Amino acid sequence: MNDGGQRRYGPLGRALVIIPTYNEAENIKPIVSRVRAAVPDVDVLVADDNSPDGTGKLADELAAADDHVHVLHRKGKEGLGAAYLAGFRWGIERGYGVLVEMDADGSHQPEELPRLLTALKGADLVLGSRWVPGGRVVNWPKSREFLSRGGSTYSRILLDVPIRDVTGGFRAFRKETLEGLGLDAVASQGYCFQVDLARRAVAAGYHVVEVPITFVERELGDSKMSRDIVVEALWRVTAWGLGSRADRLLGRTPSTPAPGSRPSGPAPGSRPSGASVDPGAESSGASGGEGSVAGPSGASGGSDSARSAGPADGPGSAGSSGPSGNGSSGNGSSGPSGDPGAARS
Ligand code: GDD
Ligand code: MN
Repeated sequence: MNDGGQRRYGPLGRALVIIPTYNEAENIKPIVSRVRAAVPDVDVLVADDNSPDGTGKLADELAAADDHVHVLHRKGKEGLGAAYLAGFRWGIERGYGVLVEMDADGSHQPEELPRLLTALKGADLVLGSRWVPGGRVVNWPKSREFLSRGGSTYSRILLDVPIRDVTGGFRAFRKETLEGLGLDAVASQGYCFQVDLARRAVAAGYHVVEVPITFVERELGDSKMSRDIVVEALWRVTAWGLGSRADRLLGRTPSTPAPGSRPSGPAPGSRPSGASVDPGAESSGASGGEGSVAGPSGASGGSDSARSAGPADGPGSAGSSGPSGNGSSGNGSSGPSGDPGAARS
């Protein structure tokens, strides 16, 4: 255990499960009904990038029949990161206290959501993890497992984040945690968005817990993984890692983000070693190996307001824009103001 155990966490508040979709027509109805059955109190937001296969329309049908289901229609394919950022803003604006990330294709099992939410009672961020004891992957080709494990290991070492599954996309955030991550500066579009949020959480000193999950490869539809997504992840992670090493060598303020605020936590100085991660820890203390790993030195208590912006935020910065929206140019994500279609419920 670690300092997370000494923290007093506020109540969780209402939870919103955000499901980004691009061409998930075969999957959207089954996944939404599984979520509704597994966690009936929770609301669902489908963040659809105007899928050509009509996923958005199917989501509208679900929303029309169920008050707990909402749809955020976005103008076109802008990547997973942009869809989540828009979904987070949508939920925070509407008062949700917990924001969950989940894939539409059944890889993340809604039936495991209660375990993530329970763990969040004693954490700032919970990661569903394939690579802690008790976690596993079903039906993945060896090549994909190699890529994912390799990506996680590369990121963990280069970025100094004590997380086994850095790229996973089944996560539960407290609203306050998201607010402290400096989301306005997040420019990652593809799956490295997940790495970006994880490194920010660690740098900000949040208590991150990994809960083992069983990831089931999709049976219907296609993965959106592409060469571009891998290349983006590789260059960004490398730039972040080298950037923070250079900062340290030169004695500069780390370019990883400092938290904006940490409302539910204790005074910033009370964390012995900054970020804390319990791989495999659950509130019940059960399944999965447990251990605490100190975060990087970077978790400097979070009192200052160093603007995040690792080197990778520069070139090609697609810049998610804040709620005020500084334009939705190019491939950037846009804030609510930039979202063409308003969410319907
Ligand atoms: N709105 C939107 N826009 N949704 C998208 C986009 C996009 O550009 N690209 C992908 N998605 C949605 C998919 O429709 C799906 O619901 C989810 O994001 C995950 O996409 P997949 O294509 O199924 O991902 P994967 O199975 O290859 O990758 C899994 O592993 C990655 C690496 O570990 C996911 O769990 C990722 O979250 C994870 O980062
Ligand atoms: Mn998938």
